[in-house]
Amino acid sequence: MEHLYTQSRISSLPTYSIGCRTGYYSTTPSSAVSKKVLHVACIGHGTVGGAFLDQLTAQRQALYSEESLDIRIVAIASSHALLLDPKGIGADWRRRKAETPYSSDPVGSLIDYQRTHRLPNMVVVDNTASAQIAARYPELVRAGCHLISSNKIANTHPLAQYRALRQLLETHRRHYLYETNVGAGLPLIDHLHLLHTSGDQITAIRGLFSGSLGYLFSTDDLIQALPRAIHEGYTEPDPRLDLSGMDVARKLLILAREVGLSVELEDIEVQSLVPPHLRNCSVEAFLEKLPDVAAYIREMVQPAEGEVLRYVGELTTEGKPRLRCGLKSVPAESSLGQVEGADSCFEIYTRSYGVTPFVIRGAGAGAEVTARGVFGDLLRLSTRL
Ligand SMILES: NC(=O)c1ccc[n+]([C@@H]2O[C@H](COP(=O)([O-])OP(=O)(O)OC[C@H]3O[C@@H](n4cnc5c(N)ncnc54)[C@H](OP(=O)(O)O)[C@@H]3O)[C@@H](O)[C@H]2O)c1
Repeated sequence: MEHLYTQSRISSLPTYSIGCRTGYYSTTPSSAVSKKVLHVACIGHGTVGGAFLDQLTAQRQALYSEESLDIRIVAIASSHALLLDPKGIGADWRRRKAETPYSSDPVGSLIDYQRTHRLPNMVVVDNTASAQIAARYPELVRAGCHLISSNKIANTHPLAQYRALRQLLETHRRHYLYETNVGAGLPLIDHLHLLHTSGDQITAIRGLFSGSLGYLFSTDDLIQALPRAIHEGYTEPDPRLDLSGMDVARKLLILAREVGLSVELEDIEVQSLVPPHLRNCSVEAFLEKLPDVAAYIREMVQPAEGEVLRYVGELTTEGKPRLRCGLKSVPAESSLGQVEGADSCFEIYTRSYGVTPFVIRGAGAGAEVTARGVFGDLLRLSTRL
């Protein structure tokens, strides 16, 4: 798609001023509706980040003319380069990024730029899985940035650090949205947050949080399914990261905190599917022993009559809160039992919903849906600015 920043088109856009603090720009003629300007800096342009940039550049013109939203991508950072252009970066971002020279600290340069120029309505979108980037959120907030993140690391930090970030966001009146941290593009976190803040009590959450484990257990033949899941890219390069249950535990932790529980990762009972003797060996040695893994899993739980095995993340809040992740036998006809392939499914029980949970089910991973969820966060944020 043709982008909006060519010289020939620039005159049709609102006057641009770096010094403007309001984030609104008058258009000419004065009768035209004023546009809300958002400046967007994207950190990470891999699978999710690349899809997000493509979606955003494709939709930008429609948002400008139909929603009065002027979204300007002003920076794109990877681990070794920062493309920075306050006039905006368009659909040719890949070519421009490839031509950007090496930088030893791209995100540091972005923060320096924002500290100096204070672009209004500056939104930093973190589409990395980097702990280093999550550790820089406080600097970004102090520089005046709102945060959107598919990276879940900051939300799994120890509680003191988790709370300090929220305090800082409040002090600086910045927003932080992370709908894609659990269930990718599925509308889960924002809805849970709304229920919690509206005073409903979430009594239980039960779900299939992991696409790779879902894929594994939606077939009867584990011995065949395990190498196939690895081969088809459903697991991490080291499948133990999925099989350990820790990814499910981190997602459960994020939801638990979202509904007001003061819990740490260590509070979660996690059943690992990795046999103890294969937990510390090399990836290569582990991959040679997949039949051992399948045998170990088969011995853990046998499905009851009319039931199927699922790796379930579960929290209950009545009495003492309890959080666990593990293999369970569930009725084949239940919502969790019916899920196939790598889809995710979440049952949410609340006081108001009673014994009938509301259920969210669909693709819980994948670049396009995750990027769409990140885009949704950006639009949600635009309504708050
Ligand atoms: N894929 C999914 O279905 C899915 C679903 C939900 C959530 N997520 C989350 O989305 C995030 C991105 O996943 P992905 O699959 O897109 O990862 P990816 O393809 O590996 O891309 C990661 C990107 O982050 C950049 N990056 C890494 N470290 C960086 C640093 N220190 N500074 C700046 N940039 C850095 C990488 O740049 P270089 O190439 O230069 O290192 C790359 O552009 C992850 O947090 C993941 O958990 C993914």
